[in-house]
Amino acid sequence: MIFKEEKKLYIETLGCAMNARDSEHIIAELGDKENYVLTDTMQEADLILINTCSVREKPVSKLFSEIGKYNKRKKEGAKIGVCGCTASHLGEEIFRRAPYVSFVIGARNVSKIGAAVNTERFISVDTDYDESTYAFGEFRHSLYKAYVNISIGCDKKCTYCIVPQTRGDEISIPLDLIVNEARKAAKSGAKEIFLLGQNVNNYGKRFSNKSEAEVDFSDLLNKISEIEEVERIRFTSPHPLHMDDKFLQTFATNPKVCKSMHMPLQSGSTHILEQMKRGYTKEWFLNRALKLRAMIPDVSISTDVIVAFPGESEEDFEETLDVMRQVKFEQVFAFKYSPRPLTKAAEFTNQIDPEIGSARLERLQVMQDDILDEISQSKMGKIYPVYIEELRNNGFLAGRSDNNALVQIKGDESLLGQTLNVEITNPKRLALYGEIVL
Ligand code: 5AD
Ligand code: SF4
Repeated sequence: MIFKEEKKLYIETLGCAMNARDSEHIIAELGDKENYVLTDTMQEADLILINTCSVREKPVSKLFSEIGKYNKRKKEGAKIGVCGCTASHLGEEIFRRAPYVSFVIGARNVSKIGAAVNTERFISVDTDYDESTYAFGEFRHSLYKAYVNISIGCDKKCTYCIVPQTRGDEISIPLDLIVNEARKAAKSGAKEIFLLGQNVNNYGKRFSNKSEAEVDFSDLLNKISEIEEVERIRFTSPHPLHMDDKFLQTFATNPKVCKSMHMPLQSGSTHILEQMKRGYTKEWFLNRALKLRAMIPDVSISTDVIVAFPGESEEDFEETLDVMRQVKFEQVFAFKYSPRPLTKAAEFTNQIDPEIGSARLERLQVMQDDILDEISQSKMGKIYPVYIEELRNNGFLAGRSDNNALVQIKGDESLLGQTLNVEITNPKRLALYGEIVL
C-alpha cells in the first residue's frame, strides 16, 4: 500500500444546494483517495478549490476576484483549482484569464477530481459525462441533515437559464442507490433527508440504464419514508409544471414529508412565462399554490422571482405582485434578470433598463416585507416541533419547524439532533424566537 502524505484542502462553495453537495463529494474523493484534510485557513492550504456558480453574472465576477486574492496570499507551491458551473461554461478561458489555475473541472465531472490534482493543467468540462451511478465517498458537513442527489442535469429549456448548458441533460439516479444512500445517512444520525435535483418532481423520466423500472417522484418519496430512522424528508427544486394531483396528494398525506414547498414562480405574467418557456400559466400556478394551501393549512410556500426579464412591462410586473399578494409566500428569492451567455433570452432585443429592474426589485421587496411581518406575527404563541441542527455564534440553537420556519431557542449542544416542541414567543421577520415546552 502506498501512503500519501497528508495535505490540506480549502474549499469555497458558491451557488445552490447541488453545488454544496458537489463540494461534499469532492471533499470525500480527495479525503479517501488523496489523503486531503479540510482546513478553514486558506493560507495553510496545499490545494485551494472554488466551486463556482454561473446562474447570474455576479457569482462569475466573484470567481475571478476570489482566485486573484487567493493567488496573492496562498502558501508557496499551493495549487488553485476551479470547479462547478462556471468551470463548465468558461472552460479553457479560465486558464487564459487566470494562468496560475492548475485545473478546471465542470459541474458534471466531479468524479475526476483525483485525476485533476495529479495532472498538470487538467481540464474536463464535458456536459455529456454521466455520473449518475458513480459511487462517491462519504462526507457530510452536517451530522443531522443529509443531502442526497436524485438526478443530475436539467432537461428544461428556460430561456434565461444557463444551467442546462453547465450541467447537461437530465438523468435520474437509480432508485435503489438513492434509498441505500438515504438509509446509510439516516442510520448514522441524519434524521432529515434532503433530496436534490434541478427538477425533482420530474424524477424517473430518464435513467442511464434503460431497463430501470418505471418510477416517479411520489414513489421515491414513499420509498424513502419507509426507512425507519428517517423522520423528515425535504426536497428542492420541484417545477410547478409537474405538480400534478398525485404529487400534491403524496406531499400532503405522507407524514414524513415536511410541509414546505418551493414553487419557483419566476413571473406572474402568462405572457412573460411564455417568453421564458416555463410551460405553465399564471392561472395554473395559482391553482396549484392555492390548492396546496387548502389541502395543508400550515404549509409554507417559497418561491424564486425574476424581475425585468426582457419585455417585462409595468403590467407584467404587476401580475407578479398580484400572485405574491394572493399566495403570500413565506419566502421569496427575488433576482434582477441577468443576461447569461448561451441562453436565448440574452439575444432578445427588448432588454429592460437595469435601473428599472432595480426599482422593481425594491418595490417587490418592500411589499414582501409587509407580507412577512404579517406572517411572522401570526406565528405568535404557536407550538412547533423543531429539529435542532445548529449552535449559532449568537449563543442560540437553531432549527426548522416542519414547515421550514427558522426557529431559535436558548440552550446548549446537548439538544442538537433532537426534535423539540417550541412555543413561539418573539416572532421576527427572519427568525422566530421561542421557548421549549414539554
Ligand atoms: N437572471 C436572474 N435570475 C436567474 N435565475 C436563473 N437564471 C437567472 C438569470 N439569468 C434565478 C431563477 C432560479 C434561481 C436559482 O435563479 O429564479 O430559480
Ligand atoms: Fe447551482 Fe445553477 Fe449556480 Fe450551477 S448555475 S451552481 S446549478 S444555481
